[in-house]
Amino acid sequence: MSEDFQKKVEDAVMNPKNMGEMEGADAVGTVGASDCGDMVRMWFKFREEDGKKVIDKASFQAFGCETAIAVAGMATEMLKGKSVDEAMTLSGESMAKDLGPLPPMKIHCTQLVEGAMQTALKPFTQQGNTPSEPQEDCVSRAEASSQGLAPSLLEKMSQPEKGNTGSPKIVFLDEE
Ligand code: FES
Repeated sequence: MSEDFQKKVEDAVMNPKNMGEMEGADAVGTVGASDCGDMVRMWFKFREEDGKKVIDKASFQAFGCETAIAVAGMATEMLKGKSVDEAMTLSGESMAKDLGPLPPMKIHCTQLVEGAMQTALKPFTQQGNTPSEPQEDCVSRAEASSQGLAPSLLEKMSQPEKGNTGSPKIVFLDEE
């Protein structure tokens, strides 16, 4: 891992952008990586612009490695002003481009951020069925346990977000 990469990650973690739960979010997505047990949740608020739904603001919480935290913060900035369909074309690696070349072992960390974004935004794409309110289901503790996640972490991530009526859905990314 290059010193430059490590320094950029540390800087981003020391000054995280848009970290924390968002009140009154329009969309929420949570993903977990079954191999490392890390989780990322992202919230989005939309606005209408020229008849299109665009991302007004985004925030995140990450229970995971520093790279996931750094990339999630960068993504919340990069996604502002993008339409939902534009955002859905972005990969985790492209949202992490300010970190420079990624060590191969850190690529999956960016995919966690990409997964959280896609989980939140998919219902709002042209192919998706826009829900009237955030829809979320909950993964059982047994299922989470079988995925190697600590119950306390799951419980933390399973808290319904304020202002949302659904219960959370945690999507586990496929292991490669
Ligand atoms: Fe799990 Fe980075 S090591 S997200």
